[in-house]
Amino acid sequence: MPSETSSSYKSVFAARRRRLADKLGGPALIISGLARARNYRANRYPFRAESHFLYFVGKALEGAALVVRPDGSILYAEPPDPEEALWTGPQPTLEQLATELGLEVRPIDELRLEEPTATLPSADAETAFLQSDLLGRDIVPASGPELEGIDLALADAVIELRLVHDHAALTEMRAAAAVTERAHRAGMRATRPGLREAAIVGAMDAEIVGAGCTHAYQPIVTREGEVLHDERHHRLLEAGDLLLADVGAESPGGWASDVTRTWPVSGQYSGSQRAVYEVVLASQLAAIDAVRPGVRYRDVHRVAGKKLLEGLVALGLFHGDVEELYARGAAALFFPHGIGHLLGLDVHDLEDLGDRAGYAPGRARSQNFGDRYLRLDRDLVSGMVVTIEPGYYRIPYLLERPEEVGELESALDRRVLAELADVRGIRIEDDVLVTDTGAEVLTGSIPKAPADVEAAMRAA
Ligand code: GLY
Ligand code: MN
Ligand code: MN
Repeated sequence: MPSETSSSYKSVFAARRRRLADKLGGPALIISGLARARNYRANRYPFRAESHFLYFVGKALEGAALVVRPDGSILYAEPPDPEEALWTGPQPTLEQLATELGLEVRPIDELRLEEPTATLPSADAETAFLQSDLLGRDIVPASGPELEGIDLALADAVIELRLVHDHAALTEMRAAAAVTERAHRAGMRATRPGLREAAIVGAMDAEIVGAGCTHAYQPIVTREGEVLHDERHHRLLEAGDLLLADVGAESPGGWASDVTRTWPVSGQYSGSQRAVYEVVLASQLAAIDAVRPGVRYRDVHRVAGKKLLEGLVALGLFHGDVEELYARGAAALFFPHGIGHLLGLDVHDLEDLGDRAGYAPGRARSQNFGDRYLRLDRDLVSGMVVTIEPGYYRIPYLLERPEEVGELESALDRRVLAELADVRGIRIEDDVLVTDTGAEVLTGSIPKAPADVEAAMRAA
């Protein structure tokens, strides 16, 4: 990314605002949001501006609002309070902000919206309240796959822009991926029996924070890899464990990476761990191979599921024909989530707009168990970034309940499942850019083949 004051940096955001204005018939309001209180108001979580604001302004200003009109954009911001300088240091004047951002900037008190103005939902209630106040009508905070009280034409215009990344966005995502690589390598090097999961989080965190980044999401670093969103880090690592680490840096400009690796605490995969790992890896590579423009993402999900099943049949965990087993839901018994999602400023990009971004018009989530958690079902387009993240999970909730296993019981070999008892959860996740001819793995230099992971764990 060019330095903050350079004209090419300013022109990136000016071009994004212009493209949005060209799609709109009237004004749109895009607000940055407010820091959230941790317990009392003065003790706050670090401020993270709303992604739509970052996309069009490029700076995390708290309590600011961008008004985009067909004839130009104006940023409304809080003028610096001289008394606050005691605590926060001197803040830029609005004139300085205008120069830095290449935008007309006015005090937020001057914001008047006389015509009907479109807006987007906000992730938190307080910001939604501020937005409602500015607009003089109710705005419902974003939640769930349905959208309420927002302007769908604006949502669709923003989705169209943010689905396909420009050069500046990709530069930021590559930078985030490079920091994530350092974090994963540090995590691999730091791992040994007797440490707590939290110690590995700390080693990874040092790389991310030390690079001036933040986490793009709450890290998952766990010996209980079968717990899909396990965010606790309190357990001690034992030599026979696998450690699943789903950790991604967010660049200073707010762009995400999202990577999972699974490595052996002892430094060497056991025979069963390696065997299942190779099956997940083959599934991931087949899915990445399927990524190219025009391919429907749901089909990439299916490629991954079938390749996983092919491997599980070869291990003897299932008996039967792969296509037939897939149709009966066998892949989802060990891989119940979707193959991935959009990636951008948000780790699940644009999910504040529900499934409107992830699902192409006319498509909706399937109710079938294997596809229900798929967050994306669009035809891929050059410039999109998606994650590819198959896994294998031995989940008691699914495997120990006859109502979940159902008729698959007859195809499942529980003797083989018992032999694979030291494999709780494996996920392998990369960030993949759709190119004109295929795919580029943005996170491809993070060790992934078993021998490379083991070598990275031995590295000094
Ligand atoms: N780290 C969240 C995800 O992989 O979707
Ligand atoms: Mn992901
Ligand atoms: Mn992840």
